[in-house]
Amino acid sequence: MTLNIELDVYSSMTDPSGLGQPHAQAPTSVRHQADWRERLRSTVDRWMVSPLLYRVSVSTFFTRWFTQKRTREVFDLMAGFVHFQVLLNCLRLGVLRRVHESPCTLEELAQQLGLPIERLDRLVWSAVALKLVDQRSNGRYGIGPLGVLVVSYPGIEAMVEHNALLYADMADTPRMLKSQAGIEDAKMHQYWPYTFGQDGVTAEHNCELELPPETQAPRASRASLAPQTERYSTLMSVSQNFVIQEITASYDFSQHQTVLDVGCGLGRFASTLAQQQGALSLMLMDLPEVVKLTQRSHMNTNYVSRMSFVPGSFKTDPIPMGADLVTLVRVAHDHSDQDVEHLFKKIHAALPLRGRLLLAEPMADPKGERQDAYFHFYLMAMGEGRLRTPQKLSNMMQQAGFSRIELLANPMPTHARILVAYKT
Ligand SMILES: C[S@@+](CC[C@H](N)C(=O)[O-])C[C@H]1O[C@@H](n2cnc3c(N)ncnc32)[C@H](O)[C@@H]1O
Repeated sequence: MTLNIELDVYSSMTDPSGLGQPHAQAPTSVRHQADWRERLRSTVDRWMVSPLLYRVSVSTFFTRWFTQKRTREVFDLMAGFVHFQVLLNCLRLGVLRRVHESPCTLEELAQQLGLPIERLDRLVWSAVALKLVDQRSNGRYGIGPLGVLVVSYPGIEAMVEHNALLYADMADTPRMLKSQAGIEDAKMHQYWPYTFGQDGVTAEHNCELELPPETQAPRASRASLAPQTERYSTLMSVSQNFVIQEITASYDFSQHQTVLDVGCGLGRFASTLAQQQGALSLMLMDLPEVVKLTQRSHMNTNYVSRMSFVPGSFKTDPIPMGADLVTLVRVAHDHSDQDVEHLFKKIHAALPLRGRLLLAEPMADPKGERQDAYFHFYLMAMGEGRLRTPQKLSNMMQQAGFSRIELLANPMPTHARILVAYKT
């Protein structure tokens, strides 16, 4: 069952950034109310940091929980990087896999992994604190409630490894925040060749179209890009499962004849649809280097006859016609507002009347959710992408010509939120 929330795409009180700042001057009465609230907030903030109040609060049963919670939250902010290092090392050194096979003592673990016990113990105790590892009877350690998720889903493990790259970039975030050069040097940016724009995969593609040499890539040759393309496509494919489940649990695809998946990657989403909907035809569009891999991986399936493959760039090539539903899964957030607006317009033009666009990706919470911080920084390091609110994306869709936009109520918005836009 799906619950659809219609978005107020006409709201004049929402800012164009979609991040919740009012963009019009508020009426005087509202401003007075805001001033009054601000004064109250500053008074409360002063109390919050008062050493006297702290002492009273921690010594009082009824208020202690609150101070403890705040202290833990601040400590967590500080410790996030170390938490990740514990996770990464537990995976890389094989700690999680070993204790998942069967619980064992620290001595057994040290012997099997060939690590000095006096340092391994810090890692294992840290992993216990983070619920990756569990303490069992007779001094043994087994897999913990979070550790079991990490070792059971290849997508999580792949993303942890990938995050090591992101965290290397995070060592110099001030440079990234200050200048475009900081972003261009980021490892995360280098990882995704299509974020080079005209200097990357698009230019590779332009070579095929025999465009003038000045538009071609100085950085990359076909040979140097192929492994990179394969690497990011494989990562996307192994991590797409959770997102696919969100989409297929929230939207009825049986009402469509032909689905075009733009930025299809290796085609995992399209193949899930092909298997679930026996009458559906599928068009898969991605950059030529990716489509070659996609085509190869579906060659011997029994649904390949219902698939057609469209190598091309949505920036420079037309969006093919013929689909009554276009999907964008984890695509828009990688690109600038300008490119996304352009893409929405092209999709709108390619759709028939009553056709739809379904967009699924992580989105920003207008009030800010913990996970937003990760995505904001990830996308900044990647290049031109942005984490957008559902409202911001809806406004962009409306600008492109879509008349009605719905935000679907999917079960796990952490993986992705889903917007459906109608052409009427
Ligand atoms: C983050 S991946 C998502 C892949 C897949 N939809 C998923 O969720 O796993 C973004 C995809 O968009 C593709 N892409 C990027 N720029 C593109 C462009 N200009 N034209 C077509 N596809 C593009 C990439 O090659 C990549 O496969």
